[in-house]
Formats: sequence, structure tokens, C-alpha cells
Amino acid sequence: MIEHKAESNWTAVEDFLTDVVVHPDPGLQRAVTSAAAAGMPGIEVAPNAGKLLKLLVQLSGSRNVLEIGTLAGFSTIWMAQGLPDDGRLVTCEYLPRHAKVARANVDAAGVGHKVEIRVGAALETLPVLESESREPFDFVFIDADKENDPHYLDWAIRLGRPGTTIVMDNVVWEGAVLEPELDNVNAPGILDALHIMGEDPRVDATVIQTVGSKGWDGFALALVR
Ligand code: SAH
Ligand code: DHB
Ligand code: MG
Repeated sequence: MIEHKAESNWTAVEDFLTDVVVHPDPGLQRAVTSAAAAGMPGIEVAPNAGKLLKLLVQLSGSRNVLEIGTLAGFSTIWMAQGLPDDGRLVTCEYLPRHAKVARANVDAAGVGHKVEIRVGAALETLPVLESESREPFDFVFIDADKENDPHYLDWAIRLGRPGTTIVMDNVVWEGAVLEPELDNVNAPGILDALHIMGEDPRVDATVIQTVGSKGWDGFALALVR
């Protein structure tokens, strides 16, 4: 009988891939260790997912990025590394103490000049961004409170343009999308966002399931038509 050790195997393979292929630099590593030291939850994207965000920013030729959910800035730094030197990233974070740790991390990583952190509930910040009539965002990463995922998706489309790339984290949520009663807080919002991605004529989308250090989850990729 083959022993079933899937979870630890997934994480061991992720660590191997991180070492051999992904190569997070010291600025990125600092974002993870400083968050742990500050007692923040270890819910940043996995390194291989962070590198995917960077490469997607580059592949899409993005110059203006919007992030919803900063934490300690790990995904922020990855995406900022994919931007040209005069590119810009606005990231929305509810908790001032998270924003403070993230500010120090993006600065230490050498990408601080590209990054603006907006503190507050994202649903209050997004209309402010709209009122500032800035250039449309080329790339949007949604990774905050899952209840609001449908609203964030709508805002991403409104603040984007045809061709904008939208990535949403945590869309599988340990399979809770099939059993939303397992998590009444987060699963319904995730499920609604997935239905919008599948049905709203303004976007075309897919989802990649993921496993590893962050458990069983998924990354949705949507293109604004
Ligand atoms: N994108 C980060 C992880 C984000 S974790 C990374 O991969 O490195 C989710 C973050 O969203 C937390 O810091 C949390 O405080 C923040 N958040 C939760 N609700 C929010 C809201 N309503 N508006 C803005 N940020 C919110
Ligand atoms: C949680 C949030 C995330 O964005 C994530 O990737 C994992 C977990 C959470 O709120 O528990
Ligand atoms: Mg997440």
C-alpha cells in the first residue's frame, strides 16, 4: 500500500520549487518573517503564486496595478517587481497596523516608490479612487475579505478597461465552494464571485486549483472584455 501523505508532499514539492525555480529575494523573505514577528496571520500567497502574479503583471504589460488586501506586502512586492520603474501600484488595507508593517517591507524591498497604501475598508477606498479619475487599472489582485469578493470584482471591472487582468485569490477555499454551509461567512461571497465570473458578459475567466503550504485553494484569472 502506498501511504497517503498528500499534504506534506505538496508542501515539500512547493519548497523544492521555491528553491529551484522561484527564488524569492531577501526583500520578499523579510515580508514573511516580519509579518510573523508582528503576530500577523501567515495568509500571504505562496511564493510560487507570488511569482505568478509578477509574471502576469509583466506578460500583460501592466503599468497601473490595484491590490485589495495588503497584509505585510508580500504579494505587493511581487507585483511591484513586475512593474517598470515608473509603474504604480495602489494597495488597499483595512488595518493600520498591517499597513505600517507593509510600508516598511515595500520600502526595504526597494519598490516603495511604486507603491501607495490606502488604509481603510476597500469598499470606501474604491469610490475615492474612482473620483480621482486616474488612468484605468491594467491589473487587479483581489485578496481581502471574501464576503465582498462580488463587490470587489465589480469594482475591478469598473476601474479597469477592456483588456484588464483580474486575479482573485482563495476561490476554492478547501472545497467549501461545493459545501458553503462549511463556512457561512466566506463561502457565499466566493461562490457569488465565481458565478459572476462565469456569467457576466463583461469578463472571461478560468480558475486554477492550487495545493501546497496554503492548503487546497484556487486562483481565478479573469480578462475584462
Ligand atoms: N495579498 C496579501 C494577503 C492579504 S490577507 C499577500 O498575499 O501577501 C487579507 C488582508 O485583507 C488582511 O491584511 C486584512 O486586514 C485585509 N482586509 C480585510 N478586510 C478588508 C477590507 N474590507 N478592506 C481592505 N482590506 C481588508
Ligand atoms: C485567509 C485569507 C486569505 O487571503 C488567504 O489567502 C488565506 C486565508 C483568511 O482570512 O483566513
Ligand atoms: Mg489570499
